[in-house]
Amino acid sequence: MTGEDSDKLEITRRELLVLGAVSAAAAASTPAEAEAKPAVAPLRLPVMSKVSFAVNGKAHALELDTRTTLLDALREHLELSGTKKGCDHGQCGACTVLVGGRRVLACLTLAASVQGRSVTTIEGLSGAQGELHPMQQAFIDHDAFQCGYCTPGQIMSAIGCVNEGHAESDAAIREYMSGNLCRCGAYPNIVAAVNQAKSSAPI
Ligand code: FES
Ligand code: FES
Repeated sequence: MTGEDSDKLEITRRELLVLGAVSAAAAASTPAEAEAKPAVAPLRLPVMSKVSFAVNGKAHALELDTRTTLLDALREHLELSGTKKGCDHGQCGACTVLVGGRRVLACLTLAASVQGRSVTTIEGLSGAQGELHPMQQAFIDHDAFQCGYCTPGQIMSAIGCVNEGHAESDAAIREYMSGNLCRCGAYPNIVAAVNQAKSSAPI
């Protein structure tokens, strides 16, 4: 059997499974139940797309389902698990990365939309000899984390906050870091860390 034949067979199997499930559901329903149920969504097979972008200075070319988020591309396809998945709905900030130097929520960003762009993750911050980025060092100096789950996103967001010029005061830091939630409540220490690191140049 050729690879093409095998692909066709795979599709046929999936279609059979879906058709089987639909038939079973229809058979089990009374007319009233069938009327109340929403129509079964048509089978949608993945649409694959080639996407090329750089992560931490290294070029990558991937073939991805067009629905793949940047977060899943980083974690599942490039094995860069430093970027965390918290809510996966744009509400916690754990997935914050920089795209072209600006912070974005990787869980709300389609990988296909960063075609040709440059992405920076927490893994890309340290220097060639492993020296910490000033923001990483500041988080350590100020105990700006407890469990650490939110920390990669906090650090990436803090770098964006400073580079955007939104760290001129404690109030500004709190406001412009408000999209990054910390269930451990390390907020005062995070503000102190950002204040320390903001004087470092370049950040
Ligand atoms: S995982 Fe992206 S905002 Fe929560
Ligand atoms: S350090 Fe635990 S969630 Fe922020």
